[in-house]
Amino acid sequence: MQFDCWYSPEFEAQFVALQTRLAQLQVELTGHVVEKINAKFLRLHPELALILDQDGLSLAANGMKMQPDWQAEIPRLKRAGMKSEMLARACQVNEQPNLIDATAGLGHDSLLMAKLGAKITLIERHPILYSLLEAAHQTAQQDVFLAPVVANIQLVHADSAHYLEQQIQAGQQVDVIYLDPMFPQRDQNQQAVKKQAQVKKQMQLLHLLLPEDGEMDLGENLLALARQLAQRVIVKRPRHAVYLDNQVPQHQWLGDACRFDGYFRP
Ligand SMILES: C[S@@+](CC[C@H](N)C(=O)[O-])C[C@H]1O[C@@H](n2cnc3c(N)ncnc32)[C@H](O)[C@@H]1O
Repeated sequence: MQFDCWYSPEFEAQFVALQTRLAQLQVELTGHVVEKINAKFLRLHPELALILDQDGLSLAANGMKMQPDWQAEIPRLKRAGMKSEMLARACQVNEQPNLIDATAGLGHDSLLMAKLGAKITLIERHPILYSLLEAAHQTAQQDVFLAPVVANIQLVHADSAHYLEQQIQAGQQVDVIYLDPMFPQRDQNQQAVKKQAQVKKQMQLLHLLLPEDGEMDLGENLLALARQLAQRVIVKRPRHAVYLDNQVPQHQWLGDACRFDGYFRP
């Protein structure tokens, strides 16, 4: 894979480190030095690229810029509790489970679960997204509030299908596996399509990075593997979406826009 990165001259050292890291993840990163990266620059360069500037590492396209903004999650993390967070209840994070989040994305769900006690292995297969997660994890280690939270999160760059298969073959067991695979833009039900029209900037950029055909599969293969490995599998779906892999859950937690489907071992 080839990818571009815009960076200001003072971030040369960070660019070289990022280029080396991405080469290890099979990405050839081409750097372009630019004096000033501002809103006008982003509008004039609408193509998908990485940005290295005073805000750290971000993904940009169509005049927008985003990163896994774990700092911005702090107010929510401070308020979060088992009562208020359906995800936390579904995954029983108060029992401090070993939890695999097999579809990391921006890592926001895992950050919440790590705050509430889960020990998390966070897996992402897309190398660009993975590099954004590594940057967020590193930045969070410098933050007094986030440092103990991210100490509960271990990042893995892998295809979860391979990772889960390896764990099964090695005879491992895990308490909880959480799946939040992408959901297609054009799909089985209209309500989900309407929601997609309102997706936030972060999700819009995520969809540009992970096209529907190709790298974006819908995670159906992960559920059967997860059920072999974990006592408890929780799947996040848009509220009215079909079941993942057509497997009927044993329990559902329903929210306004999304729901969590639970699959349990007897
Ligand atoms: C909807 S996003 C997850 C959002 C996440 N829950 C959050 O809080 O930010 C789905 C992510 O799963 C990743 N993914 C999908 N299938 C995967 C697989 N087989 N292995 C690893 N990552 C996968 C995609 O690359 C994408 O980043």
